[in-house]
Amino acid sequence: MSIIEQMRKSGFESLTDDDLLKLLTVEGETQQELFAWARDVRRENNCDDVLLRGVIEISNVCNKNCDYCAMRSSNKDLDRYSMTAEEILGIARLIKESGIQIVFLQGGQNPRNDTLLEQVIPVIRNEMKMGVLLCLGERSQEVYEKFVKLGAVSYILKFETSESELYKEITGSSLENRLKALTWAQSAGLQVGTGNIVGLAKQTLKSLVNDIRLGISIRPDFISSSPFIPNAHTPMEHQVHGNVNMTLNTLAILRIALKTAAIPSVSALESLVNDGQRMGLDAGANVLTVNFTPKDTQSLYKIYSERRFVVSLDHALKTIDKAGLRVRKTA
Ligand code: 5AD
Repeated sequence: MSIIEQMRKSGFESLTDDDLLKLLTVEGETQQELFAWARDVRRENNCDDVLLRGVIEISNVCNKNCDYCAMRSSNKDLDRYSMTAEEILGIARLIKESGIQIVFLQGGQNPRNDTLLEQVIPVIRNEMKMGVLLCLGERSQEVYEKFVKLGAVSYILKFETSESELYKEITGSSLENRLKALTWAQSAGLQVGTGNIVGLAKQTLKSLVNDIRLGISIRPDFISSSPFIPNAHTPMEHQVHGNVNMTLNTLAILRIALKTAAIPSVSALESLVNDGQRMGLDAGANVLTVNFTPKDTQSLYKIYSERRFVVSLDHALKTIDKAGLRVRKTA
C-alpha cells in the first residue's frame, strides 16, 4: 500500500505532524495520489463547482510596513491612489454584467477608506444584489460590526505565518493582534478567510505544518496558500520565490482537512508557472478571483511586483475548463 493509501485508510484526524511534513514535500506519483484524495474529498462534499469573484483594488495606501509587500508605507517609489465611490460602483456594475455575483473589495490597511465603504457597500449589496467580500486589514470589532450592518458578508485576513517571531519581524506588528482581529470579524458575523505565504525566509517545514494546524483551528469559511513572490522596492526583493509544489500540497492538505471550505487557487501560482492556477484546482481548490481593476490602476497595486499575473474572466473560464470543472452558479 502506498503512503497515501495508508493515510487515507487511517483518516486525516490520525495524521501526525510528521505525516503532514511528509505530505508537504511529496512530488511525482505520490503527489498525484495526494491531489486525487483532495479532489475526492471536494467531490464527496459537493464542492466541485468553482466560485468566481470579481476583485476591485480600491486603494494602495497602507499604514502597515510589511517587508514582502511593495504597498508598504515606507515605499516612496510608488504612486498612491484611492478610488472614488463612483469609480468603485462603476466597476461593480461591470462585475455584475459579467455574471459574477461577488464583489471583492481589496485595499491597503487604511481606516480612512471606511467612509468610502459606507457609501459603496450598501449600494452593491441592496441595489445591485451582490455579495460583498472585503480584504482591508485589521480593524476593531465595532468596525467589523459596522461592515456587517452595511451589508458585507465575508472578510479575508491572512495570518501569513504561524511563527509569531517571524511575523513580528516581517510585518512590524503582532500575530496575536492579527488573530484577535480575525476572531472579531468572526464574532461580528462575517464569514472569514485566512491563509499563509509559503517560502518566506526563515520559514521551516515545521512552521509550514504549524501554519496548516493554525489554519484548521480557525475553522475558516475559506483559506488559501500562496507562494512568496519577491517584490521590487522591498527589503525582500532579492529573495527566492516560494515553492509551487509545497503550496499545492498545502492546498490539498487543507481541502482534505476542511472538506467544504472555499479554497482559492491564487494568481501568484500562475505568476510562477504557466497553468499554475489549473494545478491549484487539480490540488483541490475551488475559487478563482477575476481582476476588474482598470488597466492603468493595476500597475500601481503591487503585491506581486513585475511577476504579477492579472486574471481575466477569459483566463478563469479557460482554467476551469482545463481542470474539467464548471462555474458555480450561486454565490
Ligand atoms: N508574496 C505572496 N503573497 C503576498 N501577499 C502580499 N505580498 C505578497 C508577496 N510578496 C499576500 C498576503 C496578503 C495578501 C493580500 O496578499 O498574504 O495578506
